[in-house]
Amino acid sequence: MTSSYVRPAGVRITGTGMAVPPRKVSNDDLAKFVDTSDEWIRPRTGIVTRHLSTDEQLTSDLAAEATTQALRNAGLEPKELDLLVCATMTPDVICPATACRIISKIGAVPCGAMDLNLACTGLVAGLSIANNFIMSGAYKHVAVIGADRLSTIVNWEDRKTCVLFGDAAGAMILSASDNPQQHCLHQKLNSDGDMGEALYVPRSESDIPERGKESFNGKFDTLQMNGREVFKFAVNALQECVREALEHTGLGPEDIKMVIPHQSNIRMLKSAWKKMGFPDDKIYINIDRFGNTSAASIGLCMHELTEQGRLEEGDHVIFVAQGGGLTWGASLWRL
Ligand code: ACO
Repeated sequence: MTSSYVRPAGVRITGTGMAVPPRKVSNDDLAKFVDTSDEWIRPRTGIVTRHLSTDEQLTSDLAAEATTQALRNAGLEPKELDLLVCATMTPDVICPATACRIISKIGAVPCGAMDLNLACTGLVAGLSIANNFIMSGAYKHVAVIGADRLSTIVNWEDRKTCVLFGDAAGAMILSASDNPQQHCLHQKLNSDGDMGEALYVPRSESDIPERGKESFNGKFDTLQMNGREVFKFAVNALQECVREALEHTGLGPEDIKMVIPHQSNIRMLKSAWKKMGFPDDKIYINIDRFGNTSAASIGLCMHELTEQGRLEEGDHVIFVAQGGGLTWGASLWRL
């Protein structure tokens, strides 16, 4: 049997988009209803403001807005999309997949749909899925979206977690290219379920293992985090991912135009990149304005960099993320 798939020469990122809810909340605003302060939050996390959604702004609404913008920037009609991958840990509902709702909202029915639940690593995983589907010749245009409303799953009485997050969606359109230089040069995804309780959302007593009891914040269905454990894990994972990507491709920090990391925490990022030999201006940071937006954060960074005209054809960029699962991964591209 012969395959009707025609493998393209390459894959390129043809469009980006982002959406944040209009409600902007500063650290001082937060301090009016959480026992915290700008003096505590800013030096420890790098966060100054974040955007929080209302009950009416669903994950699929933010994602649809970001995707529509990305499609416009790619010069594509919604109906031209073959597949839409939505990375989220805060789906509108458990079923149907948020991806199905986005497709319906943007007018892309009957596009293929899937949700990925890999917390902050979701968008990096989505890039791999898109790249591989396109390189196989199965699909021409794939939308990868990271969309999260962590504000809906934090315990607003747990100041150790609730101050860290913001709500947002970031979208990228990936398309088949006839330029063989343009593609993903390295992709690697990892997970360690043994460490799952460092960052997780238990539904009942039976979801909490012995070692997770100490850090339980007292409220089920909210995000539990062992901050120190996550910090150590993320700094190591970030370095491991970037080192591996460089080794695998034979590139050095001087060959990389931009590292685009998940915006977890400025101290974590600084601690990792100092050890890796990257100058500050090669690491994109916007956590100060948006907080940690989970799966969305890399999409926001990529959109801002694109809008600022800071990326050119032929540039190498590394997307790198770590998050709940625990999960971590990287994707290195020649644009
Ligand atoms: N405001 C004021 N005080 C606070 C706050 C707050 N928001 N949060 C904690 N404190 C207090 C604590 O109550 C504690 O007070 P105590 O000593 O009187 O008991 C003190 O500050 C220290 O608390 P710790 O939790 O030990 O603070 P730590 O130094 O570990 O810093 C932080 C906490 C910033 C969360 C740090 O652990 C961290 O950066 N961890 C990484 C976690 C992270 O970024 N997670 C994001 C999600 S994961 C991801 O995206 C990869």
